[in-house]
Amino acid sequence: KDPPHPPRYPFWVKSVFHAHEIPSVRRGYEVYRQVCATCHSMKQLHFRHLSNFVLPEKRMKEIAASYDVVDGPNDEGEMFTRPGILVDAFPSPYPNEEAARYANGGANPPDLSVYTTAKHEGLDYIFALLLGYRDPPAGIEVRDGLYYNVYFPGGLIGMPNPLHSDGLVDYEDGTPCTKSQMAKDVVNFLCWAAEPAHDERKLIGLKAASACLVGTFIVGFWYRSMWIGCA
Ligand code: HEM
Repeated sequence: KDPPHPPRYPFWVKSVFHAHEIPSVRRGYEVYRQVCATCHSMKQLHFRHLSNFVLPEKRMKEIAASYDVVDGPNDEGEMFTRPGILVDAFPSPYPNEEAARYANGGANPPDLSVYTTAKHEGLDYIFALLLGYRDPPAGIEVRDGLYYNVYFPGGLIGMPNPLHSDGLVDYEDGTPCTKSQMAKDVVNFLCWAAEPAHDERKLIGLKAASACLVGTFIVGFWYRSMWIGCA
């Protein structure tokens, strides 16, 4: 049976006239960092991408430095570990796909760098998926390592409910940390990560559309005034 279509949620960023909701993106990064990053990589993101957009540079430097990054080879030809810096990519939780599958009962947690653009209805699907865990209906056998989720194709997903209870993350801005709030924030963060230049693109589009509108009026006025004398 096909999974139900995720509802269309009123994410602010969906409207043509709206930009990313940066406070939500900021909270969403906390959710990614403290919950999702245990299993999911975001290889295309570097700490510097968030610097001054999502968090101040100083805070991003502190966060980067809290990770150990493997670098090298040094003059002796050896690899070494050092604290992260802004130009480093987000560290991956597993060294390779085999290790990721081994740790997750055979399922591979996908890289989330551009996941909102990759599949289904992006934002709506991930939001619905994160809140779609239920007890399996009578008669459905769920083997160890699988979980029943209404919105996952086939119904049985290898990801345990990541947002299983309220208050998993400490929100610095005091927003109540409910499951649905975390789901909304992390989706907004993933959406920002997939297209950081989104706001700029919409602004340029709106400027171009306004210029075309003004141009149409000017040409229309010129056309009428040119031909009016010939009538
Ligand atoms: C799959 C998001 C946390 C393990 C997925 C998928 C998404 C996602 C969008 C793809 C679903 C699909 O293919 O349609 C998230 C988010 C998280 C999170 C936003 C944090 C809030 C975690 C954690 C774990 C995990 C903490 C490990 C304990 C997995 C696995 C899969 C998966 C193993 C593959 C499932 C399968 O193919 O059956 N996740 N995830 N995820 N996730 Fe997560």
